[in-house]
Amino acid sequence: MSTLSTSLPGGTWTLGDLTVTRFGYGAMQLAGPGVMGPPADRDGALAVLREVIDLGITHIDTAAAYGPRVTNQLIHEALRPYPESLHIVTKVGAIRDEHGGWPPARQPEDLRRAVHENLETLGLEVLDLVNLRLGNAQGPQPGSLAEPFETLVELQRQGLIRHLGVSNATAEQVAEARAIAPIVCVQNMYNLAYRQDDELIDELAEEGIAYVPFFPLGGFSPLQSSALSAVAARLDATPMSVALAWLLQRSPNILLIPGTSSVAHLRENVAGAGLSLSDEELAELDKIGR
Ligand SMILES: NC(=O)c1ccc[n+]([C@@H]2O[C@H](COP(=O)([O-])OP(=O)(O)OC[C@H]3O[C@@H](n4cnc5c(N)ncnc54)[C@H](OP(=O)(O)O)[C@@H]3O)[C@@H](O)[C@H]2O)c1
Repeated sequence: MSTLSTSLPGGTWTLGDLTVTRFGYGAMQLAGPGVMGPPADRDGALAVLREVIDLGITHIDTAAAYGPRVTNQLIHEALRPYPESLHIVTKVGAIRDEHGGWPPARQPEDLRRAVHENLETLGLEVLDLVNLRLGNAQGPQPGSLAEPFETLVELQRQGLIRHLGVSNATAEQVAEARAIAPIVCVQNMYNLAYRQDDELIDELAEEGIAYVPFFPLGGFSPLQSSALSAVAARLDATPMSVALAWLLQRSPNILLIPGTSSVAHLRENVAGAGLSLSDEELAELDKIGR
């Protein structure tokens, strides 16, 4: 098992046999508007990725669907040869259409193609962790994941994938996946104001499985709450810092992948996530999403 010492807030977590900093980075915001096409500021995007590494972050979340291919290519260009400690997490199960939509693509041939596209665009021979993205833009949808998940298990057996996870999944789908093969993480929407998965997070924590919230800062519509602003003002911190610190304190199995296209925001988020929230502040924040 790899070891890693870090001064980043939250310390580390081990995904299967891969130790990562709990403070990671989500690369989706590096693509152009609507996650389509290249970024307006290409050099700026490359600078953000290099800063991710300089700050000691060892977990980057991406997907060939971002751009499409754009964020993977930026990661490849900015960071190859990759530091040994870096683990890049990808997801498959949706593609992009000409309107920027995210139609599901979960037939066995779609998934094989997506895994190879991620390998190629990232310049890797093995993907450390692949999440099967389920549901749709409205969120998780019920239904069996057996066929697509078994396809990924087969690609794992072939040596193309180290570890598996699921994303945008219901609790039933998480259980179904686990009955087929081990998973090391669940990546679902969750933040201070959106608490659908509270119970699932606690169950996964007991099982040693990571929970990786997407949209930790609210995604395309940043978190806004008078209670959050009040706590932040009292602590002389930004609402974003408080939202990230709250997630780190919420459960030890929560890993952060906040997105940003700004070096300044990235530094601010790393510095801010280390805030220590008192029981009183936690109780106040807890009311936002309950
Ligand atoms: N599995 C899935 O289905 C799925 C879906 C969505 C996302 N994801 C993953 O989750 C990651 C995180 O989600 P996300 O990036 O969409 O949403 P997010 O992390 O909740 O929020 C990102 C937004 O917050 C802004 N921001 C970040 N730090 C800030 C700061 N300090 N001050 C002010 N604004 C700040 C960013 O703008 P700036 O660029 O201006 O900083 C960006 O607009 C993605 O990168 C992606 O890897 C997965």
